[in-house]
Amino acid sequence: SLTPTRADKFSFGLWTIGYNGTDPFGGPTRPQLDVVEAVHKLDELGAYGLTFHDDDLFAFGSTDAERQKQIDRLKQALADTGIIVPMVTTNLFSAPVFKDGGFTSNDRAVRRFALRKVLRNLDLAAELGAKTFVMWGGREGAEYDSAKDIRAALERYREAVNLLGDYVTDKGYDIRFAIEPKPNEPRGDILLPTLGHAIAFIESLERPELVGLNPEVGHEQMAGLNFAAGIAQALYHGKLYHIDLNGQRGIKYDQDLVFGHGDLQNAFALVDLLENGGPNGGPAYDGPRHFDYKPSRTEDITGVWESAAANMRTYLLLKERAQAFRADPEVQEQLEASRVIELTHPTLGEGESYDDLLADRSAYEDFDPSAYFGGKGFGFVRLQQLALEHLLGAR
Ligand code: GCO
Ligand code: MN
Ligand code: MN
Ligand code: MN
Repeated sequence: SLTPTRADKFSFGLWTIGYNGTDPFGGPTRPQLDVVEAVHKLDELGAYGLTFHDDDLFAFGSTDAERQKQIDRLKQALADTGIIVPMVTTNLFSAPVFKDGGFTSNDRAVRRFALRKVLRNLDLAAELGAKTFVMWGGREGAEYDSAKDIRAALERYREAVNLLGDYVTDKGYDIRFAIEPKPNEPRGDILLPTLGHAIAFIESLERPELVGLNPEVGHEQMAGLNFAAGIAQALYHGKLYHIDLNGQRGIKYDQDLVFGHGDLQNAFALVDLLENGGPNGGPAYDGPRHFDYKPSRTEDITGVWESAAANMRTYLLLKERAQAFRADPEVQEQLEASRVIELTHPTLGEGESYDDLLADRSAYEDFDPSAYFGGKGFGFVRLQQLALEHLLGAR
């Protein structure tokens, strides 16, 4: 069905639907969105979750009383609707104090303040039952090579994440961390710019099992990378803890378009992977389908909610199309003919050693690479055309 339900696990950041249109060239085009209205409207549209940065819910510098009032208002809205908070994240990028980063600012006092801000927000995340804590280090980076000792910055990043791992473990919180890579913007260059960099970093941590990824469609595409392929690798390493869905058109500033309003063929491949890519054709990922997009500043509040609904509808359309693709016998035939299935077979036979391989004349002496590769093709183009026709609803 194309009507979103709770079972689809669609969630939205409060900063997404709440984006007021401000960009580097102009101020707000929409009034501020209240969190209670946001929760009720998301419920109406069929989403199951709301996520937020601390500063989205209560402004930076709020008094304890102001902060508590907003938390209470959120809790009441959650209780009234059944919407949950699957993920919480911390704003370590908007306040001027973070102009050179949070965990990796050259200024040690700022790093200590950032840690305290995150610890406080972790307590709130646990209180609200969030299972994932996202860390997007937008200001962790530099514009100038001489301004940042990258190895020292990575060591400070590591120090911070190790401390957070100790904290949730000692407190008994059922929370895992998800690092969100991004190549640039707002910094000229950001640390852990792609999901590959982040996976390597995670392996260096004291508790790597507590830390995974929150990859965002547009962020990998800003680096010219294939998002669906990156997600496949994240899944391969068991590191897809959360996902930010949106749209991006090529290597330029972070557009945060509606999911599918960018590279649609890659979005199709992504949904096919998430929904049908498991070992027996089932879902490969069962976490929230989280949208991190920005309703364009040309839109009014009606456009905001239309764009929120568009994210979910596009996802469900792609899911339907991907299921039809997988169920098509011609596609199954072509997958076989294109040897896609054959890649799952190990290259060596069971128990085969390199001695056995060296003794196998058919593998080398009698194998004729020239004849073989001059002959039959793989038929990948036909396979892609079949995918495209399913995507277009032409089959
Ligand atoms: C961006 C990022 C953020 C993060 C958010 C969660 O480019 O602005 O995608 O939206 O996802 O800060 O921590
Ligand atoms: Mn983005
Ligand atoms: Mn963004
Ligand atoms: Mn994001």
